[in-house]
Amino acid sequence: MQDHPLRRWLNHLIKKKGQAVLVKALGKRDRRRVLRHFLALDRDDRLLRFGSVLPDAQVEAYVAKIDFSKDIVFGVYNGRFQLVGVGHLAFTSREAHPDSIHYTDKEKVAEFGVSVSRSARGQGVGTRLFERAAIHCRNSDVDTLYMQCLSSNRTMMHIAKKAGMEIRREYGEADAHLHLPPPSPGSVLAEALEEQFAKIDYTVKANARAAVKWFRPKR
Ligand SMILES: CC(C)(COP(=O)(O)OP(=O)(O)OC[C@H]1O[C@@H](n2cnc3c(N)ncnc32)[C@H](O)[C@@H]1OP(=O)(O)O)[C@@H](O)C(=O)NCCC(=O)NCCS
Repeated sequence: MQDHPLRRWLNHLIKKKGQAVLVKALGKRDRRRVLRHFLALDRDDRLLRFGSVLPDAQVEAYVAKIDFSKDIVFGVYNGRFQLVGVGHLAFTSREAHPDSIHYTDKEKVAEFGVSVSRSARGQGVGTRLFERAAIHCRNSDVDTLYMQCLSSNRTMMHIAKKAGMEIRREYGEADAHLHLPPPSPGSVLAEALEEQFAKIDYTVKANARAAVKWFRPKR
């Protein structure tokens, strides 16, 4: 199979409603927005995202513990500069996944979790976050990406199957993994370009929001 990550990225850049879905790497300064995004998830979504209905305090603890220098957190901002999608990519030693000895001889594997705000679903945001995580793993020379979800999570199962993940279902849970090819000049360029586009988009939206605040009549 020929590898065209750059072409694939350009094709996927346009989301279903005709606007680009740009995925940006987030940092410490986005922690508050990440927290707001998770706290806005209802009980059902928290169950799907975290595997249990985490109360607010545990969500806060989870976000407080994210180590942005080790893990990679990706986000998608909508036109109103709201964080509507968050993908969390954590690298762990392959011992954490005993079955990984069958798939990889690399030291590390990756685990991915994702959530998209209800207002932004069905527009390709979840798919784009997954694809960005996959290309980032690839470019980090990690060739196995794991994702866990409930087998009843039909949307996520659809995204996993579409990406070619191998899925094992047990006791209502689905363990999926994707084997990734090694990095290529195209995969490195695709990720770098996406990050640059996303940074520009972020800056424009942040400035537009600041301008609106500035010009809003004071009460
Ligand atoms: C799962 C989730 C991230 C998907 O986000 P999204 O932005 O709506 O996803 P996308 O728009 O990229 O893709 C949705 C795909 O699923 C399909 N889909 C939607 N509902 C579906 C269903 N009930 N059954 C099968 N497929 C479904 C859509 O048609 C679309 O497919 P397509 O791209 O081939 O047309 C989002 O629903 C979510 O945050 N759920 C709660 C948290 C969660 O489940 N996280 C995953 C566990 S880690």
